[in-house]
Amino acid sequence: MTLVSPGDAPVPVPPSVDGRRLGQAEQHDALAARNSRLIPGELLTIKIRRSEVPAGGDIYQEFQVPYQKWMRVLDALNWIAENAAADLAFRWFCGSKMCGTCAVRMNGREVLACWEAVEPSMVIEPLRNLPVIRDLVVDRTRYEDKVASLEPWIERHEPYAQFPEPLTHKQMKDASKALDCISCMCCYSACPVIGLGNLTDFAGPAPLVQLGQTALDPRNSPGKVRRSLELTGIFNCVSCYKCEEVCPASIPIVSRIIEPLKAKAAQLVPEMAKHSFALRDIVAGRGRVDPGELVLRVQGLRALGNLRRILRLFARGKINPMKTLLGTKTGAAEAAGRLLGNRVGKQ
Ligand code: SF4
Ligand code: SF4
Ligand code: FES
Repeated sequence: MTLVSPGDAPVPVPPSVDGRRLGQAEQHDALAARNSRLIPGELLTIKIRRSEVPAGGDIYQEFQVPYQKWMRVLDALNWIAENAAADLAFRWFCGSKMCGTCAVRMNGREVLACWEAVEPSMVIEPLRNLPVIRDLVVDRTRYEDKVASLEPWIERHEPYAQFPEPLTHKQMKDASKALDCISCMCCYSACPVIGLGNLTDFAGPAPLVQLGQTALDPRNSPGKVRRSLELTGIFNCVSCYKCEEVCPASIPIVSRIIEPLKAKAAQLVPEMAKHSFALRDIVAGRGRVDPGELVLRVQGLRALGNLRRILRLFARGKINPMKTLLGTKTGAAEAAGRLLGNRVGKQ
């Protein structure tokens, strides 16, 4: 067993038998494909990020674990707890991709420990963006409080049409995707906007998926959905798809949950979408993004108060006050106007 400091270089990932790098190209390989590259008894090198209690700070502790057929990350953690470090803290319950409690980061990627095949060399860390209680166990209070504040339930605005109530697949197509969520927090850990901490009021992908279960249900009242959406900061999502990439339930988080919720927010709480509407109008009118005009439209004259920032943006060529004042168009303006023009000014 070896102790190394958190500053150490990451464990190099060895090439696999066919020359490809394990954990990269074949990230979505079937369990069988990954396991076929290992021989039972072969030693896996596993570095686990551990809390140094009571001294504070973290260390990486290295273990050699004998590979067993069909081994998953959770099997390796259980082997370590039984044979090498009885005080290792990690969480799991169902062992079968149902409860969402076993999520960790393996070689920098969010995975379910009970579902992910082991690799010959692994660095296992707790999820990001949540406080660590100990070792691989994170405190989910932040997420649970946020979900509760969004009141993710249905308030009907019309009486039942009949019982059972007819609902079509089309009406429920987005909400039903959200119902697949197992609250594992992989998406929350992968979201770079949540990584900004207190600098953002963005609720994050996991709470939005929980909200999507009821806010995208046609039976919910628009007033109720509006109240919930106002608390989400949803337009801070930059549509980077990092959340979707890691979701073990394969939920199309951006395209089927966040984008439909943004459309609802634009309709029910138009002031939240001020930035998006301004951007759309500028592109439709000019055929390009004009950052100067965008800032002026969103922030108004307040934007002129920070002269140092304006000069810095000008020096870097980010804004061009002359082009903004003259409303200069590009050759793409006509096409952009045609594509977006019929929507300009509409919210
Ligand atoms: S798409 Fe939005 S919610 Fe998903 S990771 Fe990117 S910023 Fe976060
Ligand atoms: S949306 Fe996917 S990644 Fe996010 S909490 Fe739900 S199951 Fe986990
Ligand atoms: S232990 Fe339940 S999802 Fe992994």
